Amino acid sequence: MWPPLHGLCSLSRTGGAMAALLKLSRRGDNANVRPSTRSAGLSAHTCEALLFRKHGDPPRVVRLEDIDLPPMGAKDVLVKILAAPINPSDINMIQGTYSILPDLPAVGGNEGVAQVLEVGSRVTSLKTGDWVIPRDTGLGTWRTEAVLAEDDVISLPNDIPLLSAATLGVNPCTAFRMLSDFEHLKPGDTVIQNAANSGVGQAVIQIAAARGVNTINVIRDRSEFTQLSDRLKAIGATHVIKEEALRRPEMKELFKVCGHVLSQNWH
Ligand SMILES: NC(=O)c1ccc[n+]([C@@H]2O[C@H](COP(=O)([O-])OP(=O)(O)OC[C@H]3O[C@@H](n4cnc5c(N)ncnc54)[C@H](OP(=O)(O)O)[C@@H]3O)[C@@H](O)[C@H]2O)c1
Repeated sequence: MWPPLHGLCSLSRTGGAMAALLKLSRRGDNANVRPSTRSAGLSAHTCEALLFRKHGDPPRVVRLEDIDLPPMGAKDVLVKILAAPINPSDINMIQGTYSILPDLPAVGGNEGVAQVLEVGSRVTSLKTGDWVIPRDTGLGTWRTEAVLAEDDVISLPNDIPLLSAATLGVNPCTAFRMLSDFEHLKPGDTVIQNAANSGVGQAVIQIAAARGVNTINVIRDRSEFTQLSDRLKAIGATHVIKEEALRRPEMKELFKVCGHVLSQNWH
């Protein structure tokens, strides 16, 4: 699969850093977000994290901080975060408008891919070097390292593109559910979606194409419309149209030839 168009984050200490990352310790003590008590520099027991202590405008409330890592338990793994995206829900969590909100302070970021650096004595399913992704939301992936429970992560092959691994957990799953849960789509059926160039929209295109389902993909006009349209078609889009075109009478003809059309509006 092609990686989504949206960017991955990078860590920055500059004010207003919107680099990436987040979750909250499920141990109930917020141990993964303790500010560092060490006086200078980083040790093996600290990491850098993008932390928010209150909800609000992300550039104002997210700060890069050194935080202590909790001690490793027998069923824990120490991981290095390799890449983590910024998704709309990450922003909404920081703003305080999302339906699931972490205890504060919290490290940002809900998905990403990490490499196992060290395993606890009773860890059975993972080994050093494995790639893992969060099993659930709220893990706080916008950090350089984390100590996580073995059960909080899922291992995956490390021979897939890094960007695909880092963005596997949210958008492709959402696209899969959208294409599976509401209609029994058959090859030859057609799905129409707006924001088709979004991460989730590109996943819809690829999963639909793999199932023989056609897609009508609506995007906003832009100077590089042709290049974007070509790129979406290269990953399997059947039709790519501008928002304005939806209002034109000739669209009726497109809908007629597309047969059963399931619509998906991302806004
Ligand atoms: N489980 C869930 O419910 C779930 C999971 C994942 C995502 N989502 C939702 O799915 C949507 C896409 O998420 P994503 O991560 O794939 O987003 P993304 O990659 O950041 O892309 C954002 C998309 O929104 C479009 N957009 C922004 N403002 C718009 C406007 N005013 N009118 C029309 N289009 C506009 C952008 O188009 P331009 O390129 O033209 O700016 C772009 O296609 C979001 O609403 C997100 O919250 C829901």
